[in-house]
Amino acid sequence: MERSRLGVVTDGAFNTGLTVRLDADRSTEDLRVGEFVVIEGKSNRYFSMISDMQLRVSDPRLLSSPPDDAPPLVAHALAGTSTYATVEVKPMLMLDLTSDLDELRGPQSVRTIPMHFAALYEASEMDFATVFGKEGGTNFAVGTPVTMDIPICLRLDRFVERSNGIFGQSGTGKSFLARLLLSGIVTSRAAANLIFDMHSEYAFDKQTEDGHWVRGLRELLGSQVLVYSLDAEAAARRNVDVTLIIGLNQIEAEDIMLLADELDLTATTAATAGLLGDQYGDDWLRQLLAMSPDELAQFCQSSGAHPEATKALQRKLREVQRRGYLTEKASFSLIDEMVTALGKGRSAILEFGRHDSPLDYMLVANIVTRRVRRLYQQKMERFEETKAEADRPLQLMITLEEAHKFLNPTVARQTIFGTIAREMRKYNVTLMVIDQRPSGIDPEVMSQLGTRITGLLTEERDIDAVLTGVSGRSFLRGSLASLDTRQQLLLMGHAVPMPITVRTRSYDKEFYQDIQRGGRAQELPDVVATDIWAE
Ligand SMILES: Nc1ncnc2c1ncn2[C@@H]1O[C@H](COP(=O)(O)OP(=O)(O)OP(=O)(O)O)[C@@H](O)[C@H]1O
Ligand SMILES: [Mg+2]
Repeated sequence: MERSRLGVVTDGAFNTGLTVRLDADRSTEDLRVGEFVVIEGKSNRYFSMISDMQLRVSDPRLLSSPPDDAPPLVAHALAGTSTYATVEVKPMLMLDLTSDLDELRGPQSVRTIPMHFAALYEASEMDFATVFGKEGGTNFAVGTPVTMDIPICLRLDRFVERSNGIFGQSGTGKSFLARLLLSGIVTSRAAANLIFDMHSEYAFDKQTEDGHWVRGLRELLGSQVLVYSLDAEAAARRNVDVTLIIGLNQIEAEDIMLLADELDLTATTAATAGLLGDQYGDDWLRQLLAMSPDELAQFCQSSGAHPEATKALQRKLREVQRRGYLTEKASFSLIDEMVTALGKGRSAILEFGRHDSPLDYMLVANIVTRRVRRLYQQKMERFEETKAEADRPLQLMITLEEAHKFLNPTVARQTIFGTIAREMRKYNVTLMVIDQRPSGIDPEVMSQLGTRITGLLTEERDIDAVLTGVSGRSFLRGSLASLDTRQQLLLMGHAVPMPITVRTRSYDKEFYQDIQRGGRAQELPDVVATDIWAE
């Protein structure tokens, strides 16, 4: 296939990238920072990214007296001789054209750079397919290049095997992207999913900002997706499988500490809850709430708890006690059955319905996830004993909207989600964190996210956060800044061979048909990902 030539390499270094002088008939206005381009060396093809552009003059006199009112003709006459443009290009992957092996293995990490005057080309469809693979199986088309209409694929099996993140300011399309990816993960069976759906937007039909209706995952994927709800009334109206009830006995001190901001708790809370736990075990909260002033005084005397602090805690926890989904005592059977279903590869959405305050969301998501983690840990330990493939726990991915509530630097060390992000990969459980403000998430957690997908971010702090630990930050910063406010994303990390900007696929009728036709399974060679994470 004929590629269209852009210019030639004139300068550069392995570490910083290459400078390409644009051909005289090429304009910087036709190129974009972040664009995928190809350099043909003598024996290698370099798949690269445009990281910057510059305007230059070869005759400095032009700068001291630029043509006042340059008519196009003058500008044209000067172009290529006295004036020219260069682009900075960063090779990300290379293909050894002389080796039959590379033809089979596909593109490899960059080990060399091309010599002077190697030509730079616009990428062709073939180049995109060589790097990102063909659609099918776990290779899922997330979108298209901004200027072309061909699929760009993400490897879902790699996506789910580490925790990952979707970021971008409000309205950039995070939740829609999550829906696309979850549909792909369910149909390709890359993982079972547990989705904490704070705003009830995943399970059933939902109106978009443009006013038309889109399908919920339950409607799209049928019984592969179970719907749990905390809201008994909403559950009666909608096609919900299980109404979840939480017992006071299931609430641990850790859950209460997570609500420190919501309940305005003081630093003594942990100590008080600890003393109550020592005395009453998992019945601590019910006991505390039932204590009369005398009983409370007695407890404080015998245990050494601070009376004022204990009274304040009792008062504040009454707020929790009033929640409609709480009962005095509940067994874990509903959650355990859910884990059994997840273990068989089904997915579960937990809707919050009316109970969609941060307090409900944080309390319940933490309790459910702690139990899920405990069971997965047991499953993994059993597998390690028996070493029988049938006992290996299926990969589970937990989708968490408003992730900063659980993963901000103050609480990430205590919440179960912080633990999962840091170490749970070993139990085959990972997170998909979705958030508007990556700067609100603990840097240690950010550094664990294998794949990061980001829409437009405008705050410097957020841009820095999303690029934490990425090598070549400066050139990705340019791509991030050039994104549209909606439906454009930068993909980087473990699930893509190299960073790339895409226009997100539409979540529409055409997509539903593709999904219902099922994954067109296909064997894929393993991709080599560019190592964009700095050491
Ligand atoms: N892939 C898509 N297909 C169709 N419409 C989309 C897509 N992505 C975004 N949109 C449109 O953009 C709107 C906002 O998208 P979405 O709700 O996913 O934003 P968000 O990033 O989750 O915002 P918030 O942070 O406020 O939750 C949608 O209501 C829809 O109209
Ligand atoms: Mg959203």
